[in-house]
Amino acid sequence: MSRLQDLGAVADLPDPGSRAFAVDGVDGFLVRRGGLVRAYVDKCPHIGAPLAWSPDTYLDAEGELIQCAMHGALFLPDSGECVHGPCAGQGLTPVAIRIQDGRVLLDPDELPEID
Ligand code: FES
Repeated sequence: MSRLQDLGAVADLPDPGSRAFAVDGVDGFLVRRGGLVRAYVDKCPHIGAPLAWSPDTYLDAEGELIQCAMHGALFLPDSGECVHGPCAGQGLTPVAIRIQDGRVLLDPDELPEID
């Protein structure tokens, strides 16, 4: 039996925008820019802090890059690579998702191991 978790409709995500989720003890977030939807663990590679500025707000003011609220590191939405800040060259931990019938689905068996 599938344990797929439905994280909601793509159309309900702001564009650009983001939204937090929690599945099986893993805190993460979805980020959408145009046709791109990605998911990452909500943990900055710098010191492990959660990234959100306020609930569900992970993007910078321009809606172009993911920005850590703690020390301002900037990440590419499509890859999670840190392109500016104290963790430059490192990256966010991706979470595998799939889009099916316009909905974002996550298989808990594919969640990354979190320290
Ligand atoms: S914890 Fe994210 S930049 Fe420092």
